[in-house]
Amino acid sequence: MSSNIQAGGVPILVMKEGTNRSRGREAQHTNITAAKIVGESVRSALGPKGMDKMLVDSFGDVTITSDGRTILDEMDVQNPAAKMMVEVAKAQDNEAGDGTTSAVVIASELLAKGEALLDKNIHATVIIDGYKIAQEKALETLERIALPVDLSKQDYLKKVAITSMASKLVAEYKEYLADIVVKAMLAVAEKEKGVYKVDVDDVLVEKKTGESLKETSLINGLVIDKEIVHSGMPKRIENAKIALLDAALEIEKTEFDSKLSIETPDQIEAFLDQEELMLKAMADKIVASGANVVICQKGIDDMVQHFLTKKGVAAIRRAKKSDMERLAKATCGTIVSNIESLTSKDLGEAALVEERKIAEDKMTFIEGCKHPKAVTILIRGSSPRMNSETERSIHDALCVVRDLILEPKILAGGSAPELEMSKVLRMHAEKVSGREQLAVKAFAEALEVLTTTLSENAGLEPIDVLGELRSRHEKGETWAGIEVLSGKVQDMSKAGVFEPLTVKKQIIKSASEAAMMILRIDDVIASQKMKTPPMPPGGGGMGGMGGMGGMGGY
Ligand SMILES: Nc1ncnc2c1ncn2[C@@H]1O[C@H](COP(=O)(O)OP(=O)(O)OP(=O)(O)O)[C@@H](O)[C@H]1O
Ligand SMILES: [Mg+2]
Repeated sequence: MSSNIQAGGVPILVMKEGTNRSRGREAQHTNITAAKIVGESVRSALGPKGMDKMLVDSFGDVTITSDGRTILDEMDVQNPAAKMMVEVAKAQDNEAGDGTTSAVVIASELLAKGEALLDKNIHATVIIDGYKIAQEKALETLERIALPVDLSKQDYLKKVAITSMASKLVAEYKEYLADIVVKAMLAVAEKEKGVYKVDVDDVLVEKKTGESLKETSLINGLVIDKEIVHSGMPKRIENAKIALLDAALEIEKTEFDSKLSIETPDQIEAFLDQEELMLKAMADKIVASGANVVICQKGIDDMVQHFLTKKGVAAIRRAKKSDMERLAKATCGTIVSNIESLTSKDLGEAALVEERKIAEDKMTFIEGCKHPKAVTILIRGSSPRMNSETERSIHDALCVVRDLILEPKILAGGSAPELEMSKVLRMHAEKVSGREQLAVKAFAEALEVLTTTLSENAGLEPIDVLGELRSRHEKGETWAGIEVLSGKVQDMSKAGVFEPLTVKKQIIKSASEAAMMILRIDDVIASQKMKTPPMPPGGGGMGGMGGMGGMGGY
């Protein structure tokens, strides 16, 4: 298809040569197909019976996960429309922290149903208008059926954390870990004038290989994966006064080659003495501030270590910047960049700083910090890969607990809310005039994908499950869903599978907005030919991802 115009036989070059363009149905079809492939690729990971994915990056590093966002991040998607679906997962993760797989699966189904309407010559604008009506009604339904919970009883906080971890590799330890997650989140939550303020980043998550996840613990303070630099320094300091430095405790080398002419042995001595004096002055400055612990973001010279050891000061070097910031917040200290300006006012405080041996390594625990809202979850899975997946699962669990603290309303899971929305939308469609009605119905059908996917992944017969659920919802059973562990259709509020309202609302928002955005595109102008071969017609699951970069017919 040419992207340039012929005027009176003379071609006018509007776009650079090599520019590819596709328009109308062709563009819509390519975009929708690419987006659907992304949906297909995460589908089998949904729910407690979902499978995990093994992802190998270009360095050969392996990640095993069932987390929607991680799968898509690692897949290195090239196609622009497919990338928009990756953005759905990101948006969902940033806003709600969980529900990334559901959001992508629903977005993909909305597009599949949208495409069927396009094939019936219904204009994209009409579909988008219908989807907008449906989105609003769906959100309204969720608000209406959500159950308010009393946060003073922590059981629902624990239940949402358990549900979120039930679909992960760590499911065996979900109750144990949920307990830690809830305690951690409540420890950092602040209530001001009846309103909660809570930030997931206030919970530090560290990992160290151990015997089993059962050893995972909650520490009332911070843990940093660093040891005390010198064997002669104290390993346990009570009533710690902590200097936080982001300056090197070393003499910096000159940037240029410099020459020093030394003529007599005395001069060498004087020169070395001078260096030693400077290093000693650094140690003295720390001691004078009253610090008994130094945590430095940069290096510490052997000589400085020696002087500090003599004064009984413990030191840690090359701490991570993020740890430094957390330490400053937790100990109420100030990070000092110029050692000359260090005073007692800058020091942070903690009841105890102690180096402990964890597995084969040494880590430093900073406990009883001045600011009590600092906690660490120390993950002790049996392998680094297990630890990484646990960290991701704990992140999701921390997020759902936060979501529930901020908006204390829950929904039961197992696709009960999706089917209730679907029922309401089918009824509502009758009141919508014009062809938009068909789009509202399509939206209602698309939501059923959650039931079919959960059932398929559990090896159940999706059509039977869906049939039974539809009829139960028609009869007014709002919480009828599919409990996949037992394989039974039942009242999910009795199965103890609960999720925060916030997560479900965000799934509907992220999924429908992405679908509408992709449907709205009817012209794709790509400035360069993409090198990858065109996508096979109809996609081709995960195997086809590598070829998705090809915007085929532009
Ligand atoms: N025992 C259960 N029976 C039925 N459905 C369940 C059960 N436990 C959880 N679910 C459902 O599983 C879905 C969540 O699955 P999963 O955690 O794999 O995906 P996600 O939360 O959408 O995305 P991700 O966790 O990857 O960000 C929710 O719809 C939840 O209701
Ligand atoms: Mg989840």
